[in-house]
Amino acid sequence: MFPKKPTDSSTTHQHSFDESRWVNNVRKSLDAELEEHPLEQVAVSIFTVPKALMCTHRDSYTPQRVSVGPYHCLKPELHETERYKLTIARKFRNNSKSFRFHDLVEKLQSLEVKIRACYHKYIALNEETLLWIMAIDSSFLIEFLKVYYGFGKVETLINRVGHNEILRDDPKTENNPYLGFIYTSFQERATFISHGNTARHAKDLGDLKLAQICGTIAADEKRHETAYTKIVEKLFEIDADGTILGLADMMKKKISMPAHLMYDGQDDNLFEHFSTVAQRLGVYTAKDYADILEFLVERWNVETLSGLSSEGHKAQDFVCGLPARIRKIEERAQGRAKEAAKNVPFSWIFGREIRA
Ligand SMILES: [Fe+2]
Repeated sequence: MFPKKPTDSSTTHQHSFDESRWVNNVRKSLDAELEEHPLEQVAVSIFTVPKALMCTHRDSYTPQRVSVGPYHCLKPELHETERYKLTIARKFRNNSKSFRFHDLVEKLQSLEVKIRACYHKYIALNEETLLWIMAIDSSFLIEFLKVYYGFGKVETLINRVGHNEILRDDPKTENNPYLGFIYTSFQERATFISHGNTARHAKDLGDLKLAQICGTIAADEKRHETAYTKIVEKLFEIDADGTILGLADMMKKKISMPAHLMYDGQDDNLFEHFSTVAQRLGVYTAKDYADILEFLVERWNVETLSGLSSEGHKAQDFVCGLPARIRKIEERAQGRAKEAAKNVPFSWIFGREIRA
């Protein structure tokens, strides 16, 4: 399909210049203009950040975790998340039965000159590299938006493999201390519960040392929970309206656990499989998620807050009704999960298969 060309990945981010590639691209652009698609009809739509802005906050205008498109794609510091991008692109392919990346790349060939024309900056990539970036990134974006905005599945409450990493690994607290302390209150209680449950399992199965270790961690997490919930209690005291709005906001975005980034170099859906097993064994479940919220609502006396604005009242109603709604979703999801159960090998127990 493509003539064999050397793929010089290191040149892109450093903008070192490949003359033959440049001549090749310019020649193609000129030839394309003679055909039916005059390039002046293709407006530049993907601009570089003006230097003046770049000088003020370089990091704000440079991808820190994941890149989309050819400008930053091959930067070594983003390689870590390229894996997640590929995982998500692969999911897109698996969900679309007849879809093949090679076919898409082939179709994009006729658009190559137009694609380049959309970019403000000269793209120092060869044809094959550029088209593969387009194919992977577009599949990734479609699947990402589908999952991120496809609410209603209980999996999205706890199992978003890599998606938060894409969102700068941000638990969606937006540098807002209200959201930050609400998130940590929830998350510390979740880890307290899951380690406590693991300790119980270990004890039941006769591994007393492991039970002791998990118990110690659980006790530690409990102390963290106490600290953070006290801070939020104080926030409710001094700014009930702002805090209830923050709590509702955080719960709408859903709380995801930091472990979603784990990877063993083998299983692209490792966290998904791991959390399915954790759910089945009762280590950390969607019921726990609802229980934690119910606990915090009671801990912070959310139901009896008074003097709220109309927005605050709405947020209060939303938060107080949410545990019951999560439980309903959970019941439906449990039924579906049973039907979809399959055996999955886990590398850390030497490939032994576990029902997930
Ligand atoms: Fe902790």
